[in-house]
Amino acid sequence: MAKKNNDFFVEKKPWSVVKDELLGCYFMPYVSKILHTYKPLVYVDCFAGKGKFDDGKPGSPLIALDVIDKCKESTRMESTQIEATFIDLYYADDLRNNLKNYPWVKIVSGKYEDNLANILQGKEHSNVFLYIDPYGIKALKCSVFDKLSKKNFNSIELLINMNSFGFIREACHVLGTSFNDREIFDDLVEFEPTKMDRTSESIEELNAIAGGDYWQEIINQYKNGIIDGYEAEARFSEQYCKRLGESYKYVLNMPLRIKKGQRPKYRLVHATNHPDGCLLMVDNICNRWEALQEIQSSGQLSFFEENYDNQIIDDTEIANKVIVHFSQYKVNTSLHESLAEFFVEYGPICSTGTVKKILKSLEASGQICITRNPCITKYGKAATYMSEDKNQKVYVRWIK
Ligand SMILES: C[S@@+](CC[C@H](N)C(=O)[O-])C[C@H]1O[C@@H](n2cnc3c(N)ncnc32)[C@H](O)[C@@H]1O
Repeated sequence: MAKKNNDFFVEKKPWSVVKDELLGCYFMPYVSKILHTYKPLVYVDCFAGKGKFDDGKPGSPLIALDVIDKCKESTRMESTQIEATFIDLYYADDLRNNLKNYPWVKIVSGKYEDNLANILQGKEHSNVFLYIDPYGIKALKCSVFDKLSKKNFNSIELLINMNSFGFIREACHVLGTSFNDREIFDDLVEFEPTKMDRTSESIEELNAIAGGDYWQEIINQYKNGIIDGYEAEARFSEQYCKRLGESYKYVLNMPLRIKKGQRPKYRLVHATNHPDGCLLMVDNICNRWEALQEIQSSGQLSFFEENYDNQIIDDTEIANKVIVHFSQYKVNTSLHESLAEFFVEYGPICSTGTVKKILKSLEASGQICITRNPCITKYGKAATYMSEDKNQKVYVRWIK
């Protein structure tokens, strides 16, 4: 039986600050944009916690509700249809208390896996956003995400905090080896540490979380000394995102570090079937990178521009990747779809604006054909826009 970590909410830890920063910053443009679909928004925080940490800092529920309030205040739309549900297995009473200024929200006491289907019943044609922050890995069953992708929602997005090192550690136990790094495990306190052993039940459980048995080969490579534990985590995360990619077209894999220069502590995974959601997340990550670096480096400045993965950004390398990626589009392809596919392949290595700028220079040098519909502006000039919406479409096609 897993042991509950009662200290989790005593004080908000740096990694919670980093992940909440990302949730809050993404959720703001997401809500503003999604309201314009004129379809209801259904937000579910599946592992909501207490709403607020004991030190007074807001938890994910208050962060999301603050965003919803701000969006409602600033929109010119006459009415907005937003529903928010907060599920927690142990802290529903704290949630009721800490969210009492929001009488319109729903609070569910129980397990997310037992309640989600009911909450989403009849929500077809809505825009659904699920925030999934368990820390432990046990409740993350891949089949739940697969099933959701097949429902008839107007859109669905998942933001998952994946404790990938927690997975690797348990996978090692199960396959008769071990992995430990105090720097990672000491301050990444799991809410409910998972303990697995060398039984076929544990193997099945990990298969269900991972959505397949691909993790076993990775752990065997680690066991045989072919790769180290950090490489195993990186490979597992990559494969996990590929697996989610069977149900969601655009999956972003974002390693999160608590301190600059450190190895990632866990992964934030964003999955959607809509290219615009993916592109919004990419720009969110890039725009907020400075703020995150502040948190991660305790204010120390870096002399080099670094990306979300603490890698030095090299303009030539980005330009080369753009050429490699876009040269595969031999027939007209939506700009937003091809861009989102670029970031799924390489991660959020730069802003969408950077790639668009490179595409425009490739257009100028005749390497790529960019077709805009409409192709003329209202002033009768040739259109040069590089974004799509319901009134304008952009297609890219590689020429040579
Ligand atoms: C990491 S904490 C969530 C923190 C929260 N997102 C925040 O930022 O304040 C995980 C929460 O999941 C709850 N929990 C654990 N297992 C659960 C399950 N199967 N379904 C729903 N909630 C669960 C725990 O009670 C705990 O409050």
